[in-house]
Amino acid sequence: MASQSDQIQQLAKQIIEREVCQDLASQATQLVMGDGDPNADIVFIGEAPGKNEDEQGKPFVGAAGNFLNEMLAAAGMDRSDVYITNIVKYRPPGNRDPFPEEKQAFWPYLAHQLQIIDPKVIVTLGRHSMEFFLPTARISQIHGHAVRKKVKYHDGTSHEWLIVPLYHPAAALYNGGLRQTLIDDFLKVPALVSSIKS
Ligand code: URA
Repeated sequence: MASQSDQIQQLAKQIIEREVCQDLASQATQLVMGDGDPNADIVFIGEAPGKNEDEQGKPFVGAAGNFLNEMLAAAGMDRSDVYITNIVKYRPPGNRDPFPEEKQAFWPYLAHQLQIIDPKVIVTLGRHSMEFFLPTARISQIHGHAVRKKVKYHDGTSHEWLIVPLYHPAAALYNGGLRQTLIDDFLKVPALVSSIKS
């Protein structure tokens, strides 16, 4: 069996070869597949790469990423302890919101990526990412709470995940109240993971 890292690389190759969202791909510098430990207990899922991510080929490396790194450190973690990715793996031009059909096109690949990593907890960052797992949830009501949700994989099998929706670091960065809410929610995540492991 190939390592988890090799399997994710293989998945990245498939996205390129199958020309998923060719329109986005043609305007982006590169595919931004993910960063961190492909064997992690926690996976963070954002929306789509921005300018810095597109240039460096890694998710969350701009201002929102610095804030994410700070919160990871405050929670006693490092980027190398977790896995970070996005729903959409190419930068939408001008940092526009990804279209629903773009998110839909990447969904089977994200589901497969999660199947490879098999984390204990999935943390969604922002409304777009949350809506994929919990389409009827309201982020203002559900943020920081763990929700069990069955997710179907590309091969027809399914798995029940523990989803923790958080606000997006970019939205919370310059909004004092939201910023503190996100930090408070974030600090609860390690305890959730420990409770599942024990
Ligand atoms: N915002 C996201 O949702 N993802 C990134 O990778 C960077 C900023």
